[in-house]
Amino acid sequence: MEHLKIANQLIQKVLKKKALIGIIGLGYVGLPLVLRFCEEGFIVLGFDVDSKKVATLKRGKSYLKSIPSPRISKFIQSGHLNVTDDFSRLIEPDCILICVPTPLTEKMEPDLQYIDKTTEAILEHLRKGQLIVLESTSYPGTTEELILPKLESTGLKVGRDFFLAFSPEREDPGNKRFTTQQIPKVVAGVTASCQEIVTTLYHQIIKKVVPVSSPRVAELTKLLENIYRSVNIALVNELKMLADRMGIDIWEVIEAASTKPFGFSPFYPGPGLGGHCIPIDPYYLSWKAREYDFTTRFIFLAGEINVHVPYYVVAKIQDALNAKGKSIKGAKILILGVAYKKDVDDARETPALSIMELLRKKGAVLFYHDPYIPILPRFRKHYFELKSAPLTKQLLHRIDVAVVVTDHSCIDYAWVVKHAPLVIDTRNVTKNIKQWKKKIVKA
Ligand SMILES: NC(=O)c1ccc[n+]([C@@H]2O[C@H](COP(=O)([O-])OP(=O)(O)OC[C@H]3O[C@@H](n4cnc5c(N)ncnc54)[C@H](O)[C@@H]3O)[C@@H](O)[C@H]2O)c1
Repeated sequence: MEHLKIANQLIQKVLKKKALIGIIGLGYVGLPLVLRFCEEGFIVLGFDVDSKKVATLKRGKSYLKSIPSPRISKFIQSGHLNVTDDFSRLIEPDCILICVPTPLTEKMEPDLQYIDKTTEAILEHLRKGQLIVLESTSYPGTTEELILPKLESTGLKVGRDFFLAFSPEREDPGNKRFTTQQIPKVVAGVTASCQEIVTTLYHQIIKKVVPVSSPRVAELTKLLENIYRSVNIALVNELKMLADRMGIDIWEVIEAASTKPFGFSPFYPGPGLGGHCIPIDPYYLSWKAREYDFTTRFIFLAGEINVHVPYYVVAKIQDALNAKGKSIKGAKILILGVAYKKDVDDARETPALSIMELLRKKGAVLFYHDPYIPILPRFRKHYFELKSAPLTKQLLHRIDVAVVVTDHSCIDYAWVVKHAPLVIDTRNVTKNIKQWKKKIVKA
């Protein structure tokens, strides 16, 4: 049985840590995965189309705040880590893990160009005995309907010549409680031998591996996790707006409800949804659902509410300025935090941009401070030529209002409230500040 021999050879290589691991896409997901394999003694070959990233890694330097350079340099020096933008080297790895972006198009449809390009690059060099794993988030069917036929167009057969699986990434950048190793990993192979190999592979680097019956189950599992968050965040965001109208502090309500020891998991309102996953991934499922004559109403409703929150925040800023006899036009507004969540250096899809865009249209003079984002790059929909302003007493005295959008831990919010004339708090960072209550507006 030739195919069993190929599968067993690969399993033995993995168990002896002699399998060469190739990781495509060295971003927030790919880079931690690279390091995890290196830490367990594997040799890793990282691929990225961004030659700047490749050059930075080759110098042993990091471009992610959450990963200090020494974690990379030690593996570059020891020879455990090699990086390249030469995709002809895809013939070398025994296991290839795909961690490329899966954004949305302008029309809010899955933008699969990165997965497509990567699949094309792999199939050019596909050889017997390779395992390919998709880690990027996508709709149920991506692995078997999109990637599999292309790879089999080479004449090689899945489960016999090469192996294919899906294993969704659950990376939570900035989360110090759960590292890559500690987060259980769902895996699913296209065939039984694919399943056995992929399970063995992740067992080498992750404490708990959770095999499921098919790639489609694994693909939908990842989407369920993110839709669950999107819907629950929308729920508390809607209740926040109602509670505000009723004169009730939603944060106090959530704190009280959280004392229930069963049946309640707290979610917190904020300035709107951000990040690479939660505002985007649910729409991968909505799009696929159309093929089944199905409308995913919860996803759309949650999206509608979450998209509305920045408008609500701007209305609260407007009201607060109005109460002081000021208008947004000409007001000097400091946005505190533009990263999509606390303590990360990632501003993709951040609600700060929507809030800033709305304020700019109304004629505000904008400043921002974010120790993690020194310069605001050009985004898909927005461009502000702004740099992070140093957070000084002088700046706080100069502005009309500070708006807390991201609750970075390193900022002394009591000090901000003391010196700013007015503070709009979308994250409840002012919860324990007893003085200057009149200057604080929760939004
Ligand atoms: N960031 C997260 O917290 C997170 C969490 C779970 C899942 N995911 C999913 O993981 C995937 C990757 O996300 P990310 O945050 O790491 O993205 P990222 O943008 O940080 O990294 C992707 C990398 O892929 C590279 N790339 C793009 N096209 C390529 C190609 N054709 N070949 C090789 N490299 C290519 C980019 O240069 C970049 O370095 C997405 O599907 C995302 O939804 C992300």
